[in-house]
Amino acid sequence: MLDKASLRILGEALERLDAGFGVLPEFEASVPGARRMAETLAATAERLQDNYPYFHPLYAGQMLKPPHPVARLAYALAQWINPNNHALDGGRATSAMEKEAVAGIAEMFGWREQLGHLCGGGTMANLEALWVAGQLAPGKKILASEQAHYTHGRISGVLQLPFAAVPCDARGRMDIAKLRERVAQGDVCTVVATMGTTATGSVDPLAEILELREKHGFRVHADAAYGGYFGLAGNLGEEARRGFDLLHQVDSIVIDPHKHGLQPYGCGCVVFRDPGIGKLYKHDSPYTYFSSREMHLGEISLECSRPGAAAAALWTTQKLLPLEKGGEFARGLEDCRKAAVDLHQRLNQDARFVTAFPPELDIVVFAPRAGSVSESSERSREIFEVAARRNVHLAVAELPVGFFEANLGAMKKDRANLTCLRSVLMKPEHKEWVGRIWEILSEAAEEVVGKG
Ligand SMILES: Cc1ncc(COP(=O)(O)O)c(C=O)c1O
Repeated sequence: MLDKASLRILGEALERLDAGFGVLPEFEASVPGARRMAETLAATAERLQDNYPYFHPLYAGQMLKPPHPVARLAYALAQWINPNNHALDGGRATSAMEKEAVAGIAEMFGWREQLGHLCGGGTMANLEALWVAGQLAPGKKILASEQAHYTHGRISGVLQLPFAAVPCDARGRMDIAKLRERVAQGDVCTVVATMGTTATGSVDPLAEILELREKHGFRVHADAAYGGYFGLAGNLGEEARRGFDLLHQVDSIVIDPHKHGLQPYGCGCVVFRDPGIGKLYKHDSPYTYFSSREMHLGEISLECSRPGAAAAALWTTQKLLPLEKGGEFARGLEDCRKAAVDLHQRLNQDARFVTAFPPELDIVVFAPRAGSVSESSERSREIFEVAARRNVHLAVAELPVGFFEANLGAMKKDRANLTCLRSVLMKPEHKEWVGRIWEILSEAAEEVVGKG
């Protein structure tokens, strides 16, 4: 089930890496506990069995995507060096790889000139973007939609910047009329446009946000942590397409290679359109930056030590699968979206379910039809459990009833939120497996509804 064949490639690459250090005298590495390693690692394998099978297409729950085998191998290979991308003397090769990989990501958004770097993940990347925003306009407000990731409100608190949430429309996107009212009140430094919300994959109306920027002069930061790579997909709906085509006009973008970029966790990325913001990071370090006059990544990032292995993994993946429209990587994203559209259609045509709006990316939310919203909420949880026993793993989310309004029919609205089922179909294999997932989900629904 788990890929082991690729380990041979790792062995070969390790030989190649080793050859590069052949001039050094042989030495015996000190490895405490060497003789007990195999049995200890076997214990780790046992412990790791206590996980949902994230790698399998029947796992169709949270935003979890297996890394590409080549990313896993490159990450592991780099561990034999364990470079630190804080400064060039800690990770010369991987710093260069990071700059190239980030340039590749920026080019995907249409930026040739930019300043960006990798970091721990979407939270850290967004923190840097909002930190820059706050440095440029101290004390002014950050706005993000009610469906934006909760991290924005929390980060604003950390940065001591005022924050306000803008209500969403019935499709989970920032409500432009409400944004217009907010920005008219003044004092806004940055509007966060979410290009694919975490709960429903909704894409904020970037064109209209940019129009408002013309008048009011705020910064626009795109949180494309989850959705960013979808700009490469050739099968987006018209509105989402329009938004992604305008991404080059924003001031900063966050994208998470550890979400749709096929990377192991610990790989976020922030890119700024204006390289001049680098001066905001300016600091001196008595310990580092001595090996070269060339820019060290630590001079343009808030984190200090960072894994060069993450850069090696991303660089290798992008070399194997370039970030091109129509390419293999893009086709993978198109398949994810096809899977989501397919599942949404099946649910929509089945009277036992209530769906929300059609998916803009690859997330589908739905609930079992029942007499009332609270009854449907209870049954959602039951279906979640029953499906899991049948090896289909979904997620559960609390969403405004308004998202389901058009399909509620006679269901009594006795609660503001509906506890619904949520499925992120982020593995290309999901396209072929939707039929199987649907069969099992259908059986699970039958079991729950039949019982009630
Ligand atoms: C849109 C969005 N922004 C930010 C984040 C936070 O990213 P991370 O979990 O990598 O810190 C997420 C996580 O799902 C996300 O979906």
